[in-house]
Parts: sequence; structure tokens; C-alpha cells
Amino acid sequence: MATTTQDPGNPDQAADPPPTVLEYARFSPDELRERIRRRKAELGAVILGHNYQRTEIQAVSDYLGDSLGLSQEAAATDAEVIVFCGVHFMAETAKILSPGKTVLMPDLRAGCPMADFVTGGGLRRLKARLPGVRVVSYVNSTAEVKAESDLCCTSANAVQVVESFPREQPILFVPDQNLARYVAERTGRPYLTTTHLGERAEESLEPAAVIAWDGYCYVHDDLVLEELADPRRRYPQAKVVIHPEARGELLAQADFVSSTSRMVEIAEGHDALLIGTERGLVDRLRQRFPGKTLIPLSGAAICGNMKMNTLAKLAWSLDHRNHEIVLDEGVRTRAERTLRRMLEPSGGWIAPTAEEEALELAGLRKPGCGCA
Ligand code: 13P
Ligand code: SF4
Repeated sequence: MATTTQDPGNPDQAADPPPTVLEYARFSPDELRERIRRRKAELGAVILGHNYQRTEIQAVSDYLGDSLGLSQEAAATDAEVIVFCGVHFMAETAKILSPGKTVLMPDLRAGCPMADFVTGGGLRRLKARLPGVRVVSYVNSTAEVKAESDLCCTSANAVQVVESFPREQPILFVPDQNLARYVAERTGRPYLTTTHLGERAEESLEPAAVIAWDGYCYVHDDLVLEELADPRRRYPQAKVVIHPEARGELLAQADFVSSTSRMVEIAEGHDALLIGTERGLVDRLRQRFPGKTLIPLSGAAICGNMKMNTLAKLAWSLDHRNHEIVLDEGVRTRAERTLRRMLEPSGGWIAPTAEEEALELAGLRKPGCGCA
């Protein structure tokens, strides 16, 4: 009996691709890259990658950046299909901003443990106790949490976002307590966490308070002050750059506190840096600037969730148009307003008028694309 065998490395056979990721893992990196290139062109897809992705994923990404840059890109792209190489909240953000597009993730299990600290239900309960506060949600949060928030922020614009509120307005900041503390310090506001808040009534709060949800990023919170002493002694000329998800005592020692994309700009202008963030970014900087002294504060600062994306899973995702992000439309619309309010001052986005927004919420007007 005649049998036909599939040549796994031949991208011409992509119309009948192997069903499981396991089979893709047997392809060589070159074969995978070729499949990704062809399939991307066929689908009219764009690959968005976060700065913490594996270097081989970074190399095939059409756009690489921090959370702010990625959300701006997701809002502006003309591509029909967005494949998001990052973690779940990032792909959700892309879907919130581009509801008419297909948004895919190579591995649905790539979540962000910090985002999981706060749920929509938990936030609703606290808001019911503190009706006068306004909620700022870090972009590292679920669509449901964004839908319950007044304004969103990223590590690149958190200070400006909080400054956009009247000085006497208390702010509930979710879910990162380290970023919240940094923002409170920079804006000169009193700071407390939900643990300190206990059962206190809203009336007892200082008017300008930043109340931080008790969440944190395990990768950045694990960076400790003691790790700085040795590289500082060995590289006295190096400037210290730390991500604001790290602890306050470490941030106090930094020459620069910045988002990941700003770290790339800082590396362009400096020959020696001690870098306190996830390894993926430091690896990328070392590849890009081989002559510079770029030292990770901790070699163990690795986000296992970000690293779940592989070339094999990315090729599988494109071939199978899977895993697709699907959101409840009511949640999506409310989360979109929260994100739009953040993106509008950054450019490239036009928020609807109050009248248009009311019609959109009533389902009487199709939500605008928002393009400037
Ligand atoms: P940025 O890339 O926005 O600085 O965020 C870092 C991060 O931890 C994303 O999960
Ligand atoms: Fe979440 Fe931290 Fe990983 Fe970023 S580095 S995805 S905040 S766990």
C-alpha cells in the first residue's frame, strides 16, 4: 500500500500542518523560522514580542518593546492577525484595543503571576468599601480588572498617570505594591498597602493617599540590595538601572529607574551598566552592544512565564490560528475605555466624545477604531 509522508521541514506542506507542538519541536530552528516567515505572510500577521522573550523569539518579532510600546503598536497595526509573544495580559490588551483582529498566543499558560494577585471580584469588593477612591490598574492585570478601573498605566508612564489626578484624590493602585510605592514617592503622596488599610474606614484616609494592592512580581521582588554590593565594587564606573517593580531599598540606590524600553535607550548612551531586571533584556542588550559592560544584577532573574513561548509553539500557533484570545464584549468595552484614557496623551489614539461613548456603551454605535 502506498503511503504519503509529510516532510516536516517543507513549509509548502503548511496547508496540512502536523497537529501537535511536539512534532514542531522536532523541526530545526531554520525550518521553524521559514515556516513562521511564510505563514505570517499568508495570514497577514504581525508578531509582537516583549523585551523579556527568548532571543530567538525576539529575532522573529516584527515589533519588540515594553508594555506601553506594545499596546500602542497593537492599537495601531493594520495586520489582520496579531501573534503575541509575551504573557496573557499583554495579548488581552491587544484584543481589547483591536477587537476586530484575531489575537493569538503561542502558549495560553504563559500568564503573569503578578496580574493574578488581583481579581475583578476582589477589586469590586474593595471599591465598595472605598467609594471615593479612583483606581489605577497597572497594565499587568486582567481585562476584568481593567474594566473595574478608572485609568491604566505601564511602568513607563505610571508617575504621569497618577499626577493626572487632582492632588487630594486618593488612589487605589493595583496590583504592584513596589511600583505603587515608587509612584507615591515620586509624586509626594502618602503610601499604604491594603494590609495596612485593614478595616479602616475611607474617612480616615489621608486625601492624597496611594493605597497599594499587596501584589508583586516574583522576578523583580527577588532582586535584593545585597546583590548590588559585589558588582558595584567590581564595576565602579557602571551606572545602576533598576525596573520599578523592584523593592524600594534597591530603587533608592539606582541612577535610573526605568521601563525595559527606556533601559535600551539608556544602554545606547552608556558604556557600563548594572541592570536590575529580567535576564531576557540584558541578553538582548549584550547582543546589541557587544563592546559594552552590561551586567545583570542577578543571573537568576528569569521570568519562566515569559520563557514559555518557543519558536516551535509560535510556528504551531500561526499554522493552527491558535490559541485565540476571546473576551466578553461588555468587559472588553469597559477595559478599552481605561486603556484609551492612558494611550490618548501618548498620541496615536482619539478617545470618543462623551456622546459617542454613551452610544457605544448602549450598543447603538460601533466602537471607533480610535486611529488618529
Ligand atoms: P515593561 O516592559 O513595561 O517595563 O514591563 C516589565 C514587565 O515586567 C512586564 O511584565
Ligand atoms: Fe509578570 Fe514579573 Fe513575569 Fe513581568 S516579569 S510577566 S511582571 S511575573
